[in-house]
Amino acid sequence: MGEDELAISEHDCETMRLVRRGADATGDQAAALFALANGLVGVEGVIDERDAAPCAYLPDAYVSRPIGYHESFPGYATATDTRVACPGPALLRLHVDGKPIDFGAAELLDTERTLDFADGQLRRISRWRIATGRTLEIAVDRIVPLAGGACVASRIRIRPLDFAGHFQAWLTYGIDGGGAGAAEADDPRISGRLRPQWTINLPLPGDTPSVTRFSQDAVALAYRQHVASPAAQVAAVHAGHVVRSELVAGGILAIDRVVAMACARGRPVDLVALNGATDFDAIAEGQRAAVRTLWGSAAFAIDGDDALAAALHFDLFQLHQSASRDPNHSIGAKGLTGEGYEGHYFWDAETFMLPVLALQAPEQAKTLLAYRVGKLDRARAHAAALGHRRGALYPWRTIAGDECSSHYPTGSAQYHINGDIAYALALYVAATGDDAFRAEAAEMLFETARIWMEIGAFDPRRDRAFCTHGVTGPDEYSALVDNDFYTNAIARRHLAYAADTANWLRARNEFAVLAAAIDLDDKEVADWRKAADAMWLPVDPALGVNPQDDAFLGRPELPGLAASGDRHGPLLMRYHPMILFRHQVAKQGNVVQAMAMDLVGMPLSQQRRNFDYYGRVTTHDSTLSSVSFAIAAARLGDEKAALEFHRECAFVDLEDRHGNTSHGLHMAALAGSWLVLAQGWGGLRLDGAIPSFRPQLPDAWKGYRFRMQWRGSVIELAVDAAGCTYRLLSGDPLAVADHGRPFNVGAEPVFAERPGLKGVIFDLDGVLTDTAEDHYQAWQALADTHGFAFDREANHRLKGVDRSNSLRLILDHAGAQVEAGRFDAMLAEKNDIYRARLAGYSPANLFEGVAELFDGLRAAGLKIGLASASRNAGDVVRLLGISDQFDFIADAGAVAHAKPAPDIFLACAAGMGLSPEQCIGVEDAQAGISAIHAAGMVAIGIGSEEALPDADMHLPAIGQLTVARILSSEQETAPRAGFSTRPDKVEEISC
Ligand code: BG6
Ligand code: MG
Repeated sequence: MGEDELAISEHDCETMRLVRRGADATGDQAAALFALANGLVGVEGVIDERDAAPCAYLPDAYVSRPIGYHESFPGYATATDTRVACPGPALLRLHVDGKPIDFGAAELLDTERTLDFADGQLRRISRWRIATGRTLEIAVDRIVPLAGGACVASRIRIRPLDFAGHFQAWLTYGIDGGGAGAAEADDPRISGRLRPQWTINLPLPGDTPSVTRFSQDAVALAYRQHVASPAAQVAAVHAGHVVRSELVAGGILAIDRVVAMACARGRPVDLVALNGATDFDAIAEGQRAAVRTLWGSAAFAIDGDDALAAALHFDLFQLHQSASRDPNHSIGAKGLTGEGYEGHYFWDAETFMLPVLALQAPEQAKTLLAYRVGKLDRARAHAAALGHRRGALYPWRTIAGDECSSHYPTGSAQYHINGDIAYALALYVAATGDDAFRAEAAEMLFETARIWMEIGAFDPRRDRAFCTHGVTGPDEYSALVDNDFYTNAIARRHLAYAADTANWLRARNEFAVLAAAIDLDDKEVADWRKAADAMWLPVDPALGVNPQDDAFLGRPELPGLAASGDRHGPLLMRYHPMILFRHQVAKQGNVVQAMAMDLVGMPLSQQRRNFDYYGRVTTHDSTLSSVSFAIAAARLGDEKAALEFHRECAFVDLEDRHGNTSHGLHMAALAGSWLVLAQGWGGLRLDGAIPSFRPQLPDAWKGYRFRMQWRGSVIELAVDAAGCTYRLLSGDPLAVADHGRPFNVGAEPVFAERPGLKGVIFDLDGVLTDTAEDHYQAWQALADTHGFAFDREANHRLKGVDRSNSLRLILDHAGAQVEAGRFDAMLAEKNDIYRARLAGYSPANLFEGVAELFDGLRAAGLKIGLASASRNAGDVVRLLGISDQFDFIADAGAVAHAKPAPDIFLACAAGMGLSPEQCIGVEDAQAGISAIHAAGMVAIGIGSEEALPDADMHLPAIGQLTVARILSSEQETAPRAGFSTRPDKVEEISC
């Protein structure tokens, strides 16, 4: 990657830092915002000279406490892990002329803090008026090196502004009590918070004076401090160092302080872990390099919304800071920035954070998965404790691997966590091609897949659909439901991936050994596939939405929900859970979550219905909610809603939108704010063979760009009003797709114009299935019965023509006339013959390639309509199993004029909410081609040029029609949508 590609422009600099002044720069919220971390340690943004409480987080520093129940039942969680804040490595106590300065009582005149995302440093400058009325300036630069060990480096400058004196700077550790106030004691999002009680231990033989040891419960810590202050006297003292210096007014005492930290459980720390860089300048240089590497694959920009760009830079930087570098740990809900949720790891590590890491720092995505693989035995034990005969169930919340939730209805019942881990594994493997890890993780994948067969069954009353029972989805305002939509959707993905992986291992001759080890046979794998194929994911016939679960749509809405909204805080703080469970109210949208993750293909119209319906009953009390709603809204082209939801997650902590940023940063929402950029606005989908994009530009922005890595290559997308330019920044050429058009991004940038096309309208008979033949056979039988001359040749003219006009053509051809009553009887007779032939129709009668084509169209964001002259069309698409694939099905009985009049195509376009020019039609009959043209649309003919001379493009069979060809036909026939408006340097995609 060239230097220039990494250079950050003057303008970008403005969005590459978080600056806060005055009261906004101090306090609990600022402590979380200005947290620094590197996956091995996190330290809150404390004020060195004032904050004396423990404020550092080391992944291994957690304690385990028993959970007590008055009434206990088999399988209840028995203990919980709680991450404890470790002694602060930044505490600075100042004495002037032998007297301590009480910064608690001093007046903070001014303070300014800057977290710089371009060089990875936190800078602060504060001016104090101390008790004597004198003023003092303290400036501190702080680094937690992203590519280093558990270490906090500080460069401190102490400057008396208007006095002289003998200064002593005590560089010690913050272990004073502190923590949550009484007001927070009942908040389940922070409960379990412990008052940390650290003991300073005696040194062990061989410890140097610069080492301090602490302990609490099973946790042992050792800090080694290195202090440099060339112009002053430095001495090691108990638990720290003291620096002494005479200062004149305006003089500066400069101190570099580097604290290396290590943690061990149940044994003393081996000091080897504390070896590392001690020179501040070298650490700063290393940090600059690490940050450059990070932005090398993660840089982005938004032209037209600096505030949002700055928020996203903050969000992404914080995610990368908290990403675990230790395979014994994942990322807590609050990362390493606070004590919220006891430091537990939840599903959001896999579903929100890991996808970002897989696309920017895949090694760290792997670390999260390695953590799960390492806890497989604990997950097996958890499944056994819940009474499952086989398989593994990951705990809902945990650190060491055991279930730590005492509330199983919203804890262990969230079986979807197994599917989330499988989803993350599949995504990581796709993004990296790391086959070795796929093989290594296969045991976990199979053991977790087994759980679905434990909690689900083929339901004979639902045509043997696979149904799951007694589960809780991500929305914790419903619990222990049957067929949670998200759970079923992720289970389907999981089961299919597990079955695919079994085949993949077989092909590598690696299946047998693993299968024998876990007693897995072919039948079990075949059952996974069967369950995936038969998964129950229904559409409610009346509302046209996917029910969140079997009972959700039937429950009453929560009275006064709309009125109370979130102004009174989350419902979970105000209602007994059972009140919430029995109402139609959601903390976050399970169906919308499944949509955002592309777990289920559905027409845009249905996505819209789901979005509207669940938007109405969702409180967004979870910070995760806005992420999926933003992605869904952006993909639906609902810019206003998408921008609102995007801001909601992007600013969740910067504006303390949930009032609890002081517990730590909401890592999943922060990660999600980038997912909204890539998956929402960029339309990125990762469920196909190659990454596919559908970049949209909201009116409020002039453009935006973002990067991602895939299989070791880094590409950048630059989106503007006309389309998107794809550039390869490093690695091998990469295959991607834009609006369904596949191409390679290689040495030359590729520009893909945004298509004007928004919908494709299909004829049915002869296009999607072979009913054209059945219509012919039915007419032939009718003609034979009544003695009219008719044959296949004569039938050509009937194609696409409605029933009564067809009979008129037959009578004309035969030179016959019949009176009205007989005419109608003949129509009914033909229809009976035709419908009898339909009896054997099933999804197998769908023409080859149609299912894939529909998937591709949806991925490209195109709507799908049906405009058939047949009054039987509704029944035929039901028999074919595709009735819920259409955004709109035009009713032949409701239009005034049949094909070749344009009415039915116009009605279909209107039904999809599109203008005719935004649509294209696909037909196999001349009458249909004429109708499409009369409607002002481009016509694709399925058939020969000879048969369909007027069509704009011809294909012998629907199976050969691809999204790329559809878009190129629009381009060929409508110059306005061409691909040739860019400078020569940019290669244009050819379809
Ligand atoms: C069209 C077919 O799609 O529908 C014709 O191409 C058919 O052959 C017409 O006559 C009407 O169908 P139905 O099912 O309403 O009789
Ligand atoms: Mg037809």
